[in-house]
Amino acid sequence: MRVLIGVFTMLSLAVMVASVPLFGQTKVAATPPMGWNSWNHFAGHVTDADVRSAADSLVSTGMRNAGYVYVNVDDTWQGKRDAEGVLHPNERFPDMKALGDYIHSKGLKFGIYSSPGAQTCAHYEGSLGHEAQDAKLYAAWGVDFLKYDLCSFHDNMRKAEAEHPDDPSAAKNLMIAAYRKMGDALKATGRPILYSLCQYGVDQPWKWGPELGANMWRTTDDIDDSYGRMIAIGFSQAGLAKYAGPGHWNDPDMLEVGNGKMTEDEYKTHMSLWVLLAAPLLAGNDLTKMSEADRNILMNKEAIAIDQDSLGKQGDRLYESGDLDVWTKPLSGGRVAVGLFNRSWSTRDVSDVWKQTDLGHRSGVFTSRIPKHGVTLLVVSK
Ligand code: GLA
Repeated sequence: MRVLIGVFTMLSLAVMVASVPLFGQTKVAATPPMGWNSWNHFAGHVTDADVRSAADSLVSTGMRNAGYVYVNVDDTWQGKRDAEGVLHPNERFPDMKALGDYIHSKGLKFGIYSSPGAQTCAHYEGSLGHEAQDAKLYAAWGVDFLKYDLCSFHDNMRKAEAEHPDDPSAAKNLMIAAYRKMGDALKATGRPILYSLCQYGVDQPWKWGPELGANMWRTTDDIDDSYGRMIAIGFSQAGLAKYAGPGHWNDPDMLEVGNGKMTEDEYKTHMSLWVLLAAPLLAGNDLTKMSEADRNILMNKEAIAIDQDSLGKQGDRLYESGDLDVWTKPLSGGRVAVGLFNRSWSTRDVSDVWKQTDLGHRSGVFTSRIPKHGVTLLVVSK
């Protein structure tokens, strides 16, 4: 099979390096949030020391200056509530305010995690019935980002369904109300706290998330460190572009780059797809042990600039045939990013018809100059 791709309207395929704000954005999530999250690598074993090391590494590797500013503690930091209902961290996190201060002292932002249910997914204490109290606590600790994960709230939804068999929206409405409640509680603190919904795309959060103050929402179930799962998520995002924009983003889940179970090309595919999707870029690896290849993927300035482009438009699928998948993302200044993905087990060749050159096996960012009134005509073949 041969596929012709004519690119007639672009001035240039070259992608300029856009400037990425040094210490985050002024408006919350003006561009897709960037940072690090503890879950994909440390899962339920994360400690205060791991989080501090991640913060140190964001600075020493240059990732902070490349835009990765959020340091997010995911599930399993929670301890028990006291007699007044105040939630305390567990023994792995001696002092959350001190941790927040440390993160801020590095020019970074502090993220935390909870659930609208009684329990989180890892069965730690959730926020049900304590929303306003928890939001105030987060603000007092200097929290800048909350990931709010549905988890055990499923039980409440099932109950609502059983109690209202004639109302098909009972569970959905209860869930939206729970997310609204925390959104309102965060707003009431007066502290700008990025609000990240995590309910795996149930009932199309892209349609109701922005209205209740969400800055991003997961669109699918969890990613894992495998090519199959990563592309299943990434390529399922077609059609969602119109719901993303400054302040509110689709979230196809956190990055697995550097966690070791994909090849370098597969991680490049992961990063390329995520930047074309204007996805939040939350690294999920151990930043203290990064290979040069991982570093180069996570810190590729041109890739990051595609993600963070000021136009704030998510990309979408242009064309798919078999294992060839072509995605484009509109960029500011009349530019466009184009991704040619090869999902097959064999390599494909790209040739430039007018230059009569075989570009060989391509990966990463492709740069070419299109002459006045000209064209770049590419053929991707098996
Ligand atoms: C869910 C979320 C994950 C992670 C875990 C923590 O599975 O989707 O991203 O937060 O919970 O328990």
